[in-house]
Amino acid sequence: MKALDGIKILDFTHVQSGPTCTQLLAWFGADVIKVERPGEGDATRKQLIDVPGADSLYFTMLNHNKRSITIDTKNKRGKEILERLVKTCDVLVENFAPGALDRMGFSWERIQELNPRMIMASVKGFGPGKYEDCKVYENVAQCAGGSASTTGFRDGPPLVTGAQIGDSGTGLHLALGIVTALYQRERSGRGQRVLAPMQDGVLNLCRVKLRDQQRLEKGPLKEYSQFGEGIPFGEATPRAGNDSGGGQPGRILKCKGWETDPNAYTYFITQAAVWEKVCDVIGEPEWKTKPGYAKPVERLDKLNEIFARIEQWTMTKTKFEVMDICNPLDIPVGPILSLKEIAADEGLRATGTIVEVDHPERGPYLSVGCPIKMSDSPVEVKRSPLLGEHTDEILTEVLGYSKEEAAELRTVGATEIVKRQAAE
Ligand code: COA
Repeated sequence: MKALDGIKILDFTHVQSGPTCTQLLAWFGADVIKVERPGEGDATRKQLIDVPGADSLYFTMLNHNKRSITIDTKNKRGKEILERLVKTCDVLVENFAPGALDRMGFSWERIQELNPRMIMASVKGFGPGKYEDCKVYENVAQCAGGSASTTGFRDGPPLVTGAQIGDSGTGLHLALGIVTALYQRERSGRGQRVLAPMQDGVLNLCRVKLRDQQRLEKGPLKEYSQFGEGIPFGEATPRAGNDSGGGQPGRILKCKGWETDPNAYTYFITQAAVWEKVCDVIGEPEWKTKPGYAKPVERLDKLNEIFARIEQWTMTKTKFEVMDICNPLDIPVGPILSLKEIAADEGLRATGTIVEVDHPERGPYLSVGCPIKMSDSPVEVKRSPLLGEHTDEILTEVLGYSKEEAAELRTVGATEIVKRQAAE
């Protein structure tokens, strides 16, 4: 038994944001039916190819545990199949460009007519307003949601982050909206529309930066390095380099081997509660009582000096030795782990967060499994579907077409029309 057993998802998503959402729902037990364009499928199947002829890692790592049906939804017969899917499924998830679903003939009003219990969930780049018609990708959302202007160093340009907060982050937001709407439907009997705009999702993750914007109006942000360096603040929340985003000062510091290893670094937090232990570890016991150093507020204008001293110490240790020494003392530190190290991490493999999956076209590959662990809803990561792999079984078992009808639809009908036209 899994949490979402019995829930059918019409997965009309592509690229990253939508697929992340439906992959999570599939891991929680929903039957996720991915509708793809005949002959092409999700564009990511053929993007960033590493094994010629095989679905890319981009696609396979975002579409586990789903079934794939190919339908030309602009064709009359294809629309009929889609209508049946809408009537049969609990949730429709889509992240097309604004207006695409309406142009296909599946407006929210039409979907409600077909199935009043349907939850229709969408990712769009922007919410209602002047940018609502824009097509949006990850980095645009990072820039429009406040992340880029607050990431990077003060004297450099805005930076995008490696974490896909616009796409995967919004997929997470949407998944929460969907399960919440499913819960409400239990009592109301009605479906509803769920919208997760990427700009809003990124901003939600940048909440602390809007906090700082308002604090800035009352005075300088004393925990930012820039304060200790005597550099005046401008009008907007600045980029804070590797300063900690909270009230406990922190920095990324070099460790032994940094000259040759780009990831020989540790994050180090001088949490007030363990200041005395920090002083002992780095060999500055007098800082425990010295005026100007003993109290957190007195240290704020000396953070560069303090972290330079701590770095002298971390540079004598590997990032893992820093962890081994500091952890027992409750000093919060974290090694900068490369993806190579993470891929080999036995702990992450043991919990299923890093999984090895086999695939008929590409052989075994590594993926990120479900990052949310539920004690009563175990996750088994299954490979992504080949394009149209489940067309027949969905037509017959889910939608009730006879075997003959399904064969007709597959060979001369709606599911293959685009291929045929291309061939002609
Ligand atoms: N059969 C026939 N046509 C299909 C189809 C199918 N099974 N599935 C999709 N299509 C058509 C749609 O009807 C639409 O056609 P139209 O523009 O003629 O109406 C088209 O394919 C979908 O186009 P679109 O969504 O515009 O794709 P794109 O590659 O041009 O744009 C994005 C990609 C991501 C920029 C855009 O989808 C978008 O902005 N999405 C919302 C924000 C988002 O999720 N961004 C992050 C993606 S990771």
